[in-house]
Amino acid sequence: MLTMNVDEILFEGMWDIMNGVTLNSYIVRGEKTAIIDGVIGWDGVPETLYKNLEEIGVDPRSIDYLIVNHMEPDHSGWISNFRKIKDDFVIICTDKAAKMVSSFYGEDKVRIVKEGDTLDLGKGKVLSFHPVPNVHWPDTMYTYETGTKTLFSCDMFGAFGRMEEHCFDDELTPEEQDFFESEGIRYYSNVMGTFTASVKKAIEKAKTLDIKTIAPGHGPVYRENPQKIIDDYARFTRYAEGAGKNEITILWGSMYGMTAKALGHAEKVLKREGIRYSKLEAARAGDSEIVASVFRAAAIIIAAPTYEYKLFPPVAAALSEAGRKRITGKAAFRFGSYGWSGGAENELKEIIERNRMNWDFIESVEFEGVPKEEDLARVESGILRLIEKMKEKAE
Ligand code: FEO
Repeated sequence: MLTMNVDEILFEGMWDIMNGVTLNSYIVRGEKTAIIDGVIGWDGVPETLYKNLEEIGVDPRSIDYLIVNHMEPDHSGWISNFRKIKDDFVIICTDKAAKMVSSFYGEDKVRIVKEGDTLDLGKGKVLSFHPVPNVHWPDTMYTYETGTKTLFSCDMFGAFGRMEEHCFDDELTPEEQDFFESEGIRYYSNVMGTFTASVKKAIEKAKTLDIKTIAPGHGPVYRENPQKIIDDYARFTRYAEGAGKNEITILWGSMYGMTAKALGHAEKVLKREGIRYSKLEAARAGDSEIVASVFRAAAIIIAAPTYEYKLFPPVAAALSEAGRKRITGKAAFRFGSYGWSGGAENELKEIIERNRMNWDFIESVEFEGVPKEEDLARVESGILRLIEKMKEKAE
């Protein structure tokens, strides 16, 4: 296994990876040598990969096959550089990846594989290939090594989060396990969320293979308990469809403190009821955090006023992003103030319907100007009903 921590970039050019991410690559050696995915710096130079190969005694020029499980450049971006030092390697990938390998890198020494095709490297090392389209690009496949029963799953079963000394599940401390569970949720919600239906199919395909180890392209390798990450991913698909942890995410914004006053009361109620919650000010929080937090919770509070006849824009943008990531079925409750006119509710409904989010809303509470005692009582009542719904959905 070769791995590299990456920080200080936006993953896919948009997701803040404040805790880093690893890029993992794997060498399988028989008489022939294959490398599964690559490790690439964002400058396109595979310095770390060459250094890592040297450390494990593999001359890059001895590599015969490049297995491209997925063409996204975090895994394949080193190909052009590699071609400069060696010309007689063959790329193994699906037909959809082959098209992109050609358009991105001008590569044509490609062997296209289909479900169940195999590559015998000699000395008992046999790889089989299993397309899992749309997790999250259409080109993706699993590679499975039949002798060690290792599934090289690329993005599937991956997680954000840098790895220090511990790369394997049996080495992780309880704190590191929690860290990768949390970073796994953030990764899934940010990168995979839109493709939950395809992820479910990929989980079913993994179940058809006799797996002893899962070796993803990002995050830890599961050699002691591969079932854990399969079960985690199955749970994440349910979070995408309305389940979640027994907690609430508050998405909020307030122009002059009127909605914030009602939110203060809401927080008192949540604390009194012993409910765990995260509070994100939409104008300040990043998309990665917003999407992950909404995805993770079984219930959402939207505390946002009307702004120019519509929903407060940062909150509207946050909800739209959750919708683009297909976060559906959450229990939700909105309250907020208005001045000379309402209008937030109309836009809220429009966002939910346009993105087919199918959130289960408690009736909203709107108030003119500052919230009065009766408004705060209605907010409290809404929150108590939301807590009941949260408990029904939580797992
Ligand atoms: Fe890890 Fe979809 O790239």
